[in-house]
Amino acid sequence: MNIFVLEDEAAIGRAVGDLFCRFVQKKPAAVLGLATGASPVPAYRRMAERCRNGEVSFRRVRTFNLDEYCDLPEDHKNSYHTFMRQELFSWVDLPPENTGFLNGNAEDEFAESERYRLAIEKAGGIDIQLLGIGRNGHIGFNEPAENFTAESYKTALTGSTIAANSIYFDDIPMPRYAMTMGVGAILRARQIVLIATGGAKADAVKIMLEGEMSPRCPATALRQHPDVQVYLDPQAAALLRK
Ligand code: PGA
Repeated sequence: MNIFVLEDEAAIGRAVGDLFCRFVQKKPAAVLGLATGASPVPAYRRMAERCRNGEVSFRRVRTFNLDEYCDLPEDHKNSYHTFMRQELFSWVDLPPENTGFLNGNAEDEFAESERYRLAIEKAGGIDIQLLGIGRNGHIGFNEPAENFTAESYKTALTGSTIAANSIYFDDIPMPRYAMTMGVGAILRARQIVLIATGGAKADAVKIMLEGEMSPRCPATALRQHPDVQVYLDPQAAALLRK
């Protein structure tokens, strides 16, 4: 794993946004794995800015998002479909039909998981996957568990995740379930970039990098992957040994 500690989230946003832009400049039909949450937003702003300046085009890019809430309409203001439109897709030249999501309202979660696996496989697999990390060490919505997960599945969200994300829900209670790509599916990406900022992530970052590899902290699985870059601010890196 390559670990970079940069001065703040703006610097991380520039570095990661530039990394994704360089990737797309080199491979215009790249397959990007995308994440929601606060962590990737500065990187998305950077990608949008560079697209607006004509430095990069996403016209041939395909994207697949990590997760989506269950029991929430796709067009609800807190859905991850909406989040991606607001934070990235409306600001770049990516055709809407090139964006892939899990359907959190699918009647058959197993058929939905298989549909998503096949869609990613047909696109050639994910070239580069962007990740955040939860305070409890989750990646996507892979919450602490007894086993590492493989393919996409429907999961119950834990108290820590509900506490962290319910601040965004002011009209209805936050959904208690989500569909998420499994850890195994995430690890199939050829390259992985994880962003963690702020002191609330320091414990999870320490366990991810220095703790026992265990599904109790799903992010520890990333240590098995040959090409992971971790971008931290000083607060998120504060508990690391070196
Ligand atoms: P955040 O969420 O970027 O909003 O902190 C990350 C995550 O929960 O994976």
